Amino acid sequence: MKKWFAVIGNPISHSLSPEMHETWLKQMNVDATYIPIHVELDHLEQAVESLKLLGCSGWNVTVPFKEAIIPYLDEVDDSAKGIGAVNTVVKTLDNKYVGYNTDGLGFINSLGRILPEYNILIIGAGGAARGIAHALKTQGFTHLTIANRTVEKARVLVEELKAGQAVTLEVAENTLIKFDVIVQTTPLGMKNSDASLPIQLHQLKENAIVADIVYNPLVTPLIEEAKKYNVRTINGLGMLVHQGALAFSYWNGVNPDTDGMIQQLIDQLGGNYVNR
Ligand code: ATR
Repeated sequence: MKKWFAVIGNPISHSLSPEMHETWLKQMNVDATYIPIHVELDHLEQAVESLKLLGCSGWNVTVPFKEAIIPYLDEVDDSAKGIGAVNTVVKTLDNKYVGYNTDGLGFINSLGRILPEYNILIIGAGGAARGIAHALKTQGFTHLTIANRTVEKARVLVEELKAGQAVTLEVAENTLIKFDVIVQTTPLGMKNSDASLPIQLHQLKENAIVADIVYNPLVTPLIEEAKKYNVRTINGLGMLVHQGALAFSYWNGVNPDTDGMIQQLIDQLGGNYVNR
């Protein structure tokens, strides 16, 4: 029987996941489809029961249901337990529904080869930063520095991680030369938000990697600034595509083409896709 997958969220019409997964399903000859489902805020439980009843093989979960879905699942993998948020549900062979979080590991995979001794600066201490920081720690990257406008929130995250240190944005800016990888997780630079930089890059290390998880626009002010220093930059499509690729592999047992997908989305969206 033809399998089907879904993404649930509210709003959902802007999601790039359906076209990404449909492309991969065709490329990998998997007889399945992937559909976006808009779920009303107070209908999550019914929606999950319906997905189960209708035999959905697995689904992605996006804002605002990543935390709220947990009680409706049979099991939650360690990747999601630590941060209390699920973005991927997998139906097992014995019909159990298991929650995973592929956002953090997807982000790490988007960086390419990075070494455990690298000093990593995470800018921001919200939900996205938390997911990435936990995944980095789990993967053995412990030289973590969290810089946040409200430094107290960075301290809370460091305590929770039992690794790394918390600093102000100002300290991060003045000690930037120490960092091999810089990860921007705040909404700064996102369309309709303040277009300023979270920190200046004057002290950027040669050969640093600068990654921004914002992908609308594709070239954020931070990425644009980093390009002036000739360092490797990674836009937010990297994380989007790699979290999707992990979900695809959990569902279908095969790894889809990530580089081709990033290029496909760049071609499709153009340099800025602020109108979507
Ligand atoms: P998400 O789940 O997307 O990470 P969030 O939990 O609301 O979103 O977190 C947003 C992060 O962006 C926070 O670290 C926030 O800093 P504060 O803790 O000081 O609020 C950061 N942020 C948002 N707007 C910012 C701005 N204008 N300048 C600097 N940091 C900002």
